[in-house]
Amino acid sequence: MKILGIESSCDETAAAVVEDGTRVLSDVVRSQVDIHRRFGGPVPEIASRSHLEVIVPVIEEALSRAGLAASAIDAVAVANRPGLIGALLVGLAAAKALALALDKPLIGVNHLAAHIYASWMEGGAPPETPFVALVVSGGHTSLFRFDQPFEPVEIGSTADDAAGEAYDKVAAILGLGYPGGPIIDEVARAGDGARFRFKPPLLARDGLDFSFSGIKTAVLYRVTGRSAPHEPLPLSEQNVRDLAASFQEAVISGLLSASFRAVRRARAAALVVGGGCAANSRLRERFAEEAAAHGVRLFLPARARSTDNAAMIAGLGYHLYRLRGADGLALDAYPTS
Ligand code: KG4
Ligand code: ZN
Repeated sequence: MKILGIESSCDETAAAVVEDGTRVLSDVVRSQVDIHRRFGGPVPEIASRSHLEVIVPVIEEALSRAGLAASAIDAVAVANRPGLIGALLVGLAAAKALALALDKPLIGVNHLAAHIYASWMEGGAPPETPFVALVVSGGHTSLFRFDQPFEPVEIGSTADDAAGEAYDKVAAILGLGYPGGPIIDEVARAGDGARFRFKPPLLARDGLDFSFSGIKTAVLYRVTGRSAPHEPLPLSEQNVRDLAASFQEAVISGLLSASFRAVRRARAAALVVGGGCAANSRLRERFAEEAAAHGVRLFLPARARSTDNAAMIAGLGYHLYRLRGADGLALDAYPTS
């Protein structure tokens, strides 16, 4: 079964064709990063308009790279939640138009569930249940427990910013540009992560919820010298590297402790990590170390499939269709999960 996936929840316009949930026939991602860079983050209204301009060419490219006419597609899957509402509606309208014109089933896919699916998509078989999943992206930081492979139950979330958002904002404070995640990943490699002691971004020490606003402010105050008795810290190359590395160590340590706490409480044998920040090299390294130490199976997406893409939407769409059938043309979009 060949499914066309469409993704437009934030600032990537993406389309892909995936066969039977796993075989990726094409995977096209058109990023709007260059458009949003001067604003330091995605501007919702601009994102919607940019999706509108490129959605049809992106879908056409996905079909042509897969070597398929639109009529050869068996179903259309689309990310319909959560995300920027105007952005989601562009993808949803395109998906509905195609489904109607081609008389094919339409399947709504939760973007966060698709990030989780991306982690085991290639292997084919789901982790054994119960398992725990951490989604770390630009818009979300949440923990889920799965008692069934396709039924996430949220058990933790962030009270304020998402992990990726914190990376982006801290990169801005350090004058590193946008998007900050990949830049901090790179810069932190040459830094001393033990030089500054930032508190891990946990809402409560023994809980499963996160809070990233404190660490962002802590980095800002360390730089400006507002956190007496410190002097302002000049943004020299080495200071920036050390701040980036120390920020990253604290973030990862918070993500690790909440995730493995959730694993223990759920008596899970597997941990899945997905979302844009799952591309982070230090995060991947630390999660692999801890998973090995705890005897837990770790599922990480390929780095290129960590950030937003439509292959994960088409892939999960296949399983949802088999489980519960199509959604119909009344399918709506929602900003929340
Ligand atoms: O999942 P995603 O592509 O979009 C959302 O659903 O939000 O995640 C984007 C986020 C951005 O905040 C970006 O800075 C972060 O993922 N990101 C990274 C890395 N690559 C992307 N964060 C840390 N390290 C990376 N290598
Ligand atoms: Zn995402």
